[in-house]
Amino acid sequence: MNSRPIVALDAINFEYGGARKVAALTDITFSVSQGEFVSISGPSGSGKSTLMNILGCMLTPTSGSYQLNNEEVSRKNSREKADIRNTQIGFVFQNYNLLPRASALQNVCLPLTYGGFKRRTRKERAIEVLTKVGLEKRIHHHSNELSGGEQQRVAIARAIVTNPQILLADEPTGNLDRATGDNIMDMLENLVAQEQMTILFVTHDPDMVKRAKRSIKIRDSRIAGDEAQ
Ligand SMILES: Nc1ncnc2c1ncn2[C@@H]1O[C@H](COP(=O)(O)OP(=O)(O)OP(=O)(O)O)[C@@H](O)[C@H]1O
Ligand SMILES: [Mg+2]
Repeated sequence: MNSRPIVALDAINFEYGGARKVAALTDITFSVSQGEFVSISGPSGSGKSTLMNILGCMLTPTSGSYQLNNEEVSRKNSREKADIRNTQIGFVFQNYNLLPRASALQNVCLPLTYGGFKRRTRKERAIEVLTKVGLEKRIHHHSNELSGGEQQRVAIARAIVTNPQILLADEPTGNLDRATGDNIMDMLENLVAQEQMTILFVTHDPDMVKRAKRSIKIRDSRIAGDEAQ
């Protein structure tokens, strides 16, 4: 495995503003190298999604440093951050976040529209990743005509279609039965093994934690454990 750190967080704090201030992340420090497969777990409200949103450049830390490929993310403007999201990071949302009236193919093509690819190239690439997640027979189904596990697979296809360095997945198996969840985990494992993708995923499930190579635990906004396994 290559040990170059892709992600390096140093003393990250995040506080939600407004009337009820919440210290959602406190003094978070860790780094992740290319090809790592990392689970993030911890009680509800401990800060897991906040952490994923910071890693995904959707939230800016209140203080601390986030380096992505040796570049400080907090120094980037919002256009540069959008660019990072579109090219370097794939994000799988817990509730899939698909466009319901658009087909699986249209959903997966969407991130490629920002990349200046030709229409035909976009379609070919989208079909390729939909095939990879086992949905070649469902490409024209609207996402509201797909099962939960199929929607999750479209969400993963959409997240990997740009061939990002990092895949961030917030509870990718949270709403699925055991067999479908295992199948999604097999898929993530293959992306790490075959494409050296770097994957961080949030889970509540101890069996899914065991499948990662490293487990980070969050408790009350702080890191409570970080172990290779
Ligand atoms: N937009 C917000 N405004 C204020 N507080 C928030 C906001 N979003 C989350 N919080 C608070 O920040 C803390 C961390 O939330 P976060 O969503 O990161 O938790 P989580 O670990 O992902 O929980 P879960 O397992 O339930 O998804 C919680 O106490 C939550 O109430
Ligand atoms: Mg969450």
